[in-house]
This record gives sequence, structure tokens and C-alpha cells, in this order.
Amino acid sequence: MALLFCLCGPALADPLDVSQSPPGASACLGCHGATETELPSLKNLSAVEIEAGMDAFRTGAREATLMNRIAKGFTPEETRAIAQWLATQGRAK
Ligand code: HEC
Repeated sequence: MALLFCLCGPALADPLDVSQSPPGASACLGCHGATETELPSLKNLSAVEIEAGMDAFRTGAREATLMNRIAKGFTPEETRAIAQWLATQGRAK
């Protein structure tokens, strides 16, 4: 139980209903959220494009300030689940 709390605790706290979200998905919206920020919105990207972007960040094929480290925290399978969840939430195309 302690481990579960550790993985799903305050870092993922989010005002959205995230009860159905895959691990880590709500954290994306902390930065790529609905409000206008200087960060790229994920809204114009399809799930496939998000997945491809994450893969490129993970492998280092694409330069990043932050996303390379974030992408390395997820397996390709986890990344796919997150990208698809974002799309079903209307947070991606
Ligand atoms: C701490 C803030 C932060 C979090 C959390 C975060 N991102 Fe990012 N994201 C960024 C920044 C900043 C960039 C711009 C690239 C860079 O400098 O790393 C970016 C870029 C991206 C891009 C490329 C966007 C484009 O227009 O091409 C994708 C895709 C992406 N993030 C997906 C995700 C996903 C999926 C998650 C959750 C697993 C996530 N991000 C979590 C900050 C964040």
C-alpha cells in the first residue's frame, strides 16, 4: 500500500477526474494543461504524435529541456496508454 500511495500521491494531484487515468497521465496536464502557458499544448497532437514525440524524447532523437527526463520515466507501453487516455479526455486530438 505504501508503494501505491507513493506512486499515485500528491505528485499526481489534479482537479480533473483522473480515477480512470493510467499512471502518470494526470501529471502531463500539470504542465500541458488547459490554461494558456508557454508550454506546447498537446491539444493539436494526435495520440500517435504524442507517442512518437515521447519516443523521440526518450531516445534522445529530439532535444528537450525537460521531456527527455520525463519520457525516460515511462515505458513505450505506458506512453501509449497515456497518449490514448489524453485523446479520450479531449486533451489531445
Ligand atoms: C514539468 C513540466 C512537464 C510535464 C510534467 C510534462 N511535460 Fe511535456 N513538455 C514540457 C516542455 C517544457 C516541453 C518542450 C520540450 C522541452 O523543452 O522539454 C514539452 C513537450 C512535449 C511534447 C512535444 C509537443 C510538441 O508540440 O511537439 C509532447 C508530445 C509532450 N511534452 C508530452 C508530454 C506527456 C505525454 C507528458 C506526461 C507523461 C508530459 N509531456 C509531461 C513540459 C512538461
